[in-house]
Amino acid sequence: MITVFGASGNTGGAAAAHLLKKGRKVRVVGRRPEKLAALVKAGAESAVGDLEDARFARAALTGAEAAYVLIPPNLATEDFRAYQKRVVAALASGIEAAGVRHVVLLSSIGAHHSSGTGPIVAVHDFEERLKEIGGLNALFLRAGFFMENTLMGLGSIKAQGIYGGPMPAEAAVQMIASADIGAYAGGRLERLDFSGKSVVHLLGPKAVSQTELVGILGQAVGKPIHYAQVSLDDVEKGMIQGGMRPAVVSVFVEMYRAAGQGLVAPEEGRPVELAPTTFETFAKNVFAPAYGK
Ligand SMILES: NC(=O)c1ccc[n+]([C@@H]2O[C@H](COP(=O)([O-])OP(=O)(O)OC[C@H]3O[C@@H](n4cnc5c(N)ncnc54)[C@H](OP(=O)(O)O)[C@@H]3O)[C@@H](O)[C@H]2O)c1
Repeated sequence: MITVFGASGNTGGAAAAHLLKKGRKVRVVGRRPEKLAALVKAGAESAVGDLEDARFARAALTGAEAAYVLIPPNLATEDFRAYQKRVVAALASGIEAAGVRHVVLLSSIGAHHSSGTGPIVAVHDFEERLKEIGGLNALFLRAGFFMENTLMGLGSIKAQGIYGGPMPAEAAVQMIASADIGAYAGGRLERLDFSGKSVVHLLGPKAVSQTELVGILGQAVGKPIHYAQVSLDDVEKGMIQGGMRPAVVSVFVEMYRAAGQGLVAPEEGRPVELAPTTFETFAKNVFAPAYGK
């Protein structure tokens, strides 16, 4: 049996669907049972609870030969770093106590740095914690920026035809569709073809500049979209005006700053694999429907 955390989310959903399609026994985990219903209908068992609760995390892992683990985003939390630490502690101790042998951890490019990269520091710490577990085979799946991050721009695109971000217009990013990450993780968990502690970077098929990005999104939604580079101060103000807590905002601003310094990138000398979904396909199949097109 394979436990999939975050199974009603972007990556966990795709991982669970892949494993079920291949006939594997799957336990899907989330807090809201209604969001897991389709996977249960497709044959999964479910475990419903909060993975900040170490006892629940352990129970969800008990009897699993393998697991897909991640630190789910939680923008509503009071203290983002403390929340991330609780999740890492609960999942790592659960993996250890339940004796799970194979784990795919959703990590991030830039996770080789121990500080200065905002939320990515927590996946660095998670990797380090899993390295301490003897006999565990762990694959650190360091994904690039998700294409889904562009969905945060829906409001300003609708209102003003503007997509804003801290990167220069010419900055090209090899974004990845989150469904590709889940399918890749599902494939590795199906085959259990990793041993010891290993790293793989997973990126989208092609780097897309911010200018190209707005062109592709504009084509998909049928209206011109302009890119506006925004200073980090304005990004910070915008997030706070949008209702996010300062302690959460500062962590993300640190990541944007690190990205600008080139720190949020694959670690040299480690393998990089490319996922199939192009930004054009994402724009047509995910962004345009979310826009209401
Ligand atoms: N965005 C990027 O560019 C990027 C790049 C690299 C890595 N990452 C990593 O990817 C993660 C997001 O992955 P994703 O897109 O697959 O997530 P997602 O779509 O936001 O899904 C989160 C999942 O976790 C569950 N969940 C949330 N809080 C929970 C809790 N306290 N206890 C139990 N389950 C909980 C959710 O279900 P319920 O709501 O029902 O609980 C849902 O199934 C980030 O947090 C980051 O670590 C992101």
